[in-house]
Amino acid sequence: AEALKLGVAGLGTVGASLMRILAERRESLATTCGRPIEVVAVTARSRGKDRGISLDGAKWFDDAVSLAREADIDVFVELMGGAEDPAYSAVKAALARGLHVVTANKALLAAHGMELAALAEENGALLNYEAAVAGGIPVIKAIRESMTGNTISRVYGIMNGTCNYILTRMEKEGLTFEACLKEAQRLGYAEADPTFDIEGNDTAHKLAILTSLAFGTAIAPDDIYLEGISNISIEDIQAAADLGYRIKLLGVAQRTESGIEQRVHPTMVPQNSVIAQVDGVTNAVAIEADILGELLMVGPGAGGNATASAVLGDIADIAKSRPGAQRVPAFGQPTSALRPYRRAQ
Ligand code: NDP
Ligand code: HSE
Repeated sequence: AEALKLGVAGLGTVGASLMRILAERRESLATTCGRPIEVVAVTARSRGKDRGISLDGAKWFDDAVSLAREADIDVFVELMGGAEDPAYSAVKAALARGLHVVTANKALLAAHGMELAALAEENGALLNYEAAVAGGIPVIKAIRESMTGNTISRVYGIMNGTCNYILTRMEKEGLTFEACLKEAQRLGYAEADPTFDIEGNDTAHKLAILTSLAFGTAIAPDDIYLEGISNISIEDIQAAADLGYRIKLLGVAQRTESGIEQRVHPTMVPQNSVIAQVDGVTNAVAIEADILGELLMVGPGAGGNATASAVLGDIADIAKSRPGAQRVPAFGQPTSALRPYRRAQ
């Protein structure tokens, strides 16, 4: 069968892990997907960097927009990050050509998700982004596909691996905030600008995406009460522990009579609750729905391999899809059917 040709933009923590996995599991993936998967084009910021991966057989492009516009590919895989250019223009250029797009970029989707989803629809392309929320946990598919027909009343959880890693190590080992953050960066968990993690913006981006999926509304990234963990001290964590609580950075979105409420802030959760037991880089997303009941998904929330696993799942879905088949809309329903967002009063 004909190979699925990928163009990969971004060869950092996630991109390099993806390249490694695609090379190491080439044969088994070809069998599973019914066709080989080949990386035929790549780009990153610096061409000469030693990434410990082979780029043999892939054409190098000096910029992502040229790759998206010109490369002979089926899928544009965006792993650069950032809400604006080059990611924004490159993804638009790829979708405009009818190329499928796979991205892990929640900042981009929070800012431009509706426009990109509409562009994908117009061009018969898929916009897949499982890795954008809660790393390796398949929460997008769960809400968008497996829970079709449910009315969801609340979605909440620990959605930032860096913050949970910092809070856990501060509590369990008495390490300083700065030391834990440095370690999270070294392990590849943090965003290129870690203020997005520690000030809660990254959780807010993910929450905005989940809110849209869960409640069938347009994305509203600016209507989120936001407070991060940068002011949390070891003393705060110990004071909470003395009262029987642990501090977790939670994202919460719920439906109320008057509209939707979205918030991100450090929260005291009872030590014996399931969510309090979620440690380190692990994420947890809880979804309350009328048919299913309460679903709790717990798993690796960041890191090269965990994230690449979700990216790979999105690529495999495209490899297995038939040309001309009905496409699952990016936000579960055509963008024209999404309701306007109404905030709770
Ligand atoms: P990195 O910073 O490790 O890698 C980013 C890559 O993009 C690098 O290869 C970099 O090039 C390249 N890049 C950056 N800017 C440009 C540009 N202007 N033009 C071309 N290439 C560029 O990030 P991650 O791999 O950690 O993250 C990638 C995406 O995945 C982000 O959207 C992030 O939010 C998301 N994500 C990350 C997770 C994680 O655990 N790390 C988890 C879930 C999602 P160079 O190497 O030459 O500098
Ligand atoms: N910086 C993010 C985190 C990466 O720590 O959760 C995963 O989205």
